[in-house]
Amino acid sequence: MAARQENAPVHAAIIMDGNGRWAENKGISKYFGHDAGMRAMTAIVRHASDIGIQYLTVYAFSTENWKRGAEEISGIFKLLMIYVDKELDELWRNNVKVNVVGDTSEMPKDVRKYLERTVSRTAENTGLVFNICLGYGSRAEIVRAARRLAEDALAGNLAVGAIDEKALASRLYTGDMPDPDFIIRPGGEKRLSNFLLWQAAYSEFIFSDVLWPDFTPEEFDNAIMAFSARKRRFGGRS
Ligand code: IPE
Ligand code: IPE
Ligand code: MG
Repeated sequence: MAARQENAPVHAAIIMDGNGRWAENKGISKYFGHDAGMRAMTAIVRHASDIGIQYLTVYAFSTENWKRGAEEISGIFKLLMIYVDKELDELWRNNVKVNVVGDTSEMPKDVRKYLERTVSRTAENTGLVFNICLGYGSRAEIVRAARRLAEDALAGNLAVGAIDEKALASRLYTGDMPDPDFIIRPGGEKRLSNFLLWQAAYSEFIFSDVLWPDFTPEEFDNAIMAFSARKRRFGGRS
C-alpha cells in the first residue's frame, strides 16, 4: 500500500444507482442489470480493501425500494444470496468485516440466513469494514435512534440533558464509525434518496453519469483524487 496521504479518505460511501437503465440500454431484463451491479460492487469492495480504505458503505436496497414490483425485488434478493455466498471466502481471506445496515426483517428467511452467516463469519476480521445498506432509509434510522434514546431515558439510563449529537449518532446503525468523507452517486441523479442524511453533514459529493454496472476501480480512484483536491472547512477558516 502506498503511503497514506494526509487527505486520504477513511470512509467512502456509494449510492449504487443505474442498474435498471443499464439493462434497458442493452434491451435485457432488469435482473441482469442488478446482476451486473453486484459484479461491480464485488470489484469495488476488493479494490477498496486493496488500497486501504477503512470503511466502505454501499446503498443496495432502500426502504423506498419496497415500492418496486415483486419480481424485481425477489430477483435482487436472489442475486444478493448468490453473491454473498460466492464471495464469502474471498471476503474472509481479505480480512473484510461485513455489516448489514438497515431493517432486513421483511426480507425472505433464506436471504437473511445467508446475510447472517456472512456477518458472523467475518465478525472478527480487522480490515475493511464493508457496510451493505439493505432495507435502509436514513429517516427510519434516525427514528430508530430517537426511540432508543427515549427507551434509555425512560429506563433511567440517560438524563434528557445528556442527549447530544454523540448520544444520537451512537444509536445510528453506523454507531461510532467516522462519517463518510465522500459519497459517490453514479447513474446521473443528483440527490441523496434517503441515504446517510445525518452522517453526510460534511461529506463531499461526487456525482457521475456512469451507470453503476459500468463503474470501475479506476472510476473509484478518480473519485478519491477529486475528493483529495477538495478544500474542507467544516464551517471554519482554512
Ligand atoms: C439501483 O439501480 C439498484 C437499486 C435501487 C436496488 P436502479 O434499479 O435504481 O437503476 P435505475 O435507476 O432504474 O437505472
Ligand atoms: C437509491 O436509488 C437507492 C439505491 C441505490 C439502493 P433509487 O433508484 O431508489 O433512487 P431514486 O428513486 O432515483 O431517488
Ligand atoms: Mg435508480
